[in-house]
Amino acid sequence: MTDTPGQRGSYYERHIFFCLNHRDTGEASCAQHQAQEAFDHCKRLVKTQGLAGPGQVRVNKAGCLDRCAGGPVCVVYPEAVWYTYVDQADVEEIVESHLKHGVVVERLITPAHLGR
Ligand code: FES
Repeated sequence: MTDTPGQRGSYYERHIFFCLNHRDTGEASCAQHQAQEAFDHCKRLVKTQGLAGPGQVRVNKAGCLDRCAGGPVCVVYPEAVWYTYVDQADVEEIVESHLKHGVVVERLITPAHLGR
């Protein structure tokens, strides 16, 4: 039997995780690329647009997601779409297109081969 998301009790329609990992070793990390600012901006947009909460959108911090070479990264579930953003305008596009309307922002998708 196949469960639908509703039957499994999906609490949020979409969940976005931002890697905020910082490394003191000099190795690449998302925190070097304004990840905290992007997270804060996303959180603010989702809240002010009334998208936050049960049945809607949740914005969460994450540690290293092991795709540092593509950083800064965030990932949206349940679609499991990975994004590499550059600036706040990119974050705004992810919110407006994907989080609000369910339309993936193809131009920001993290290349599949980029891992750690
Ligand atoms: S430091 Fe962000 S994915 Fe590893």
